[in-house]
Amino acid sequence: MKAVILAGGLGTRLRPLTNTVPKPLIPLLDKPLISHIVDSLPAWVDTILLAVNYRREALEAYFETADPEGRVVLVDEPEPLGTGGALKNLSRHLNETFLAFNGDIVSSIDLALLLRNHRASKGIGTIALWPVPDPSAFGAVGTGPGLRITMFQEKPAPGEACSDLINAGVYVFEPEILDHIGDGFVSLEREVFPKVLEHGLFGHRFEGYWIDCGTRENFLRAQRTLLDLGGGATEGRVSDRARVTPPNFLHGVEVDEATVGPYVSAQEGVVVRRGAEVSDSILMRGALIGEGAKVRGSILGPEVIVAEGAQILDTILG
Ligand code: GDD
Ligand code: MG
Repeated sequence: MKAVILAGGLGTRLRPLTNTVPKPLIPLLDKPLISHIVDSLPAWVDTILLAVNYRREALEAYFETADPEGRVVLVDEPEPLGTGGALKNLSRHLNETFLAFNGDIVSSIDLALLLRNHRASKGIGTIALWPVPDPSAFGAVGTGPGLRITMFQEKPAPGEACSDLINAGVYVFEPEILDHIGDGFVSLEREVFPKVLEHGLFGHRFEGYWIDCGTRENFLRAQRTLLDLGGGATEGRVSDRARVTPPNFLHGVEVDEATVGPYVSAQEGVVVRRGAEVSDSILMRGALIGEGAKVRGSILGPEVIVAEGAQILDTILG
């Protein structure tokens, strides 16, 4: 079976970091965000089609080493075609039931169960659903008996959502869905889903966790979730006098007599100088936190230098 990962968005809500690092390649603990989806795919998925356009070269370079078996195939969109247009652009590869994913989510969904439910419902598609307190940043989904979807509202105005269940961005589709996608820029959520309801679009609920990593807050939430599930590690030179509060993921770091954690990930070459305090943050490769500086709730891109005594709070730096 084939799986499509939609990974062509601009990552605007994570700028300025995404001006240089595409969203799929931002590290989430031990690997880039996109690899959390790729590695969660069971062995019965033989081909992973990555729909890309923006910063394609960086993704290509990454998968050259990260995917030695060649399961991942990058398919270029000449220009961003939207979530629906991106699927249509892959039509020639999709002639049987396939999985599809938004490229920015981490979740505990059981894909075998999703597929089994889809086959049992005999619809044109099945959408994984997740409850949230405020659906206005997502696609709200109204359902009837048997979780058949009766309504799809992308980004409903606050207070106007038809339910608290949202589209979790994990799908199973029959190839016939492609017949309902026109040419050019098409939104799957705004244009296609409302149109195919009569062909049987079903929901599938699951347990565990689900996070869309599209914003700083949510990216850090995903990191906290995975650290709480045991994703921590420490490797590098950490001073005996450093105060480290777990869980953290520290890899190839140098930490002086500083205060680190909880919920910090720091990649190769990160240096935290004396008296600095870092918590709930992502420090990408080669970032330097100067003496007495304070970093909290932030994502710092590669080689970022935080000056002595500076305070970086709830911020993204490229
Ligand atoms: N190839 C390609 N081309 N991919 C795209 C394009 C495009 O033009 N536009 C967006 N994508 C990719 C993004 O990279 C991302 O992985 C995924 O499609 C979804 O786009 P987002 O920009 O992250 O959408 P969202 O988070 O506002 O909303 C979507 O996800 C929610 C759940 O996380 C919608 O699907 C909502 O209905 C859903 O609830
Ligand atoms: Mg998103």
